[in-house]
Amino acid sequence: MIVARNLRQRYPRPGSDEPLVVLDGVDLEIAQGEILSVLGPSGSGKTTLLGLLAGLDLPTEGTVELAGRSLAVLDEDGRAALRAASVGFVFQSFQLVPTLTALENVLVPLELLGRPATAADREARARELLGRVGLTERVGHYPAQLSGGEQQRVGIARAFANEPRVLFADEPTGNLDGATGQGIIELLLELNREKGTTLVIVTHDLELARRAGRILHLSRGRVERMESPG
Ligand SMILES: Nc1ncnc2c1ncn2[C@@H]1O[C@H](COP(=O)(O)OP(=O)(O)OP(=O)(O)O)[C@@H](O)[C@H]1O
Ligand SMILES: [Mg+2]
Repeated sequence: MIVARNLRQRYPRPGSDEPLVVLDGVDLEIAQGEILSVLGPSGSGKTTLLGLLAGLDLPTEGTVELAGRSLAVLDEDGRAALRAASVGFVFQSFQLVPTLTALENVLVPLELLGRPATAADREARARELLGRVGLTERVGHYPAQLSGGEQQRVGIARAFANEPRVLFADEPTGNLDGATGQGIIELLLELNREKGTTLVIVTHDLELARRAGRILHLSRGRVERMESPG
């Protein structure tokens, strides 16, 4: 489902000739239906890696194949279309549209793809998705009127909306209390079981990490080790 070869990401460092090396040669293959957790200290490159695998950014060096397509040969629009059809992304910082309600935020990807075909069916689907994350009573709220955990759950409903083949989640339970976080984890695992959705999850939650098929330990932009729990 995902093949990454020799991924390197460097950023110019203000006031220095030496660039900042954020990813330093990552090789990775993720099979369809697999659950991969990514663990590593703050600043080790986890969010950067997810962004490259999802085609949100292009690497300084190296290649990514996603769902059989090489991201390097696609332009911005091509990558956006591939993401809309195949990829869901739960951001560490939510990234909801502040001027749209919870319902409207979840409608965005459905409208982008035009599926379901009618506006009434799309709205029903968005309401159902928000119900699954426990937000039936909050569909008309704007992001600023939602708690951090509620915003995260809207982000998760939005990421699920198009039944993506791959779902990337960047610390999806980081802002949630134990019980709510547990509910979100069960939801992700259910999606994997029922739809065969490939999951790539950045987490500091060891319990969640251990429920994955493999754990990638990232350290200073390198794969330190790959662990198979259980
Ligand atoms: N656009 C950018 N320009 C310059 N440096 C960047 C940029 N994006 C990220 N970095 C740097 O890259 C490093 C890795 O960032 P990244 O967000 O991938 O870390 P992370 O492992 O997700 O950390 P955390 O656990 O805190 O979320 C950081 O030191 C960050 O400052
Ligand atoms: Mg991060």
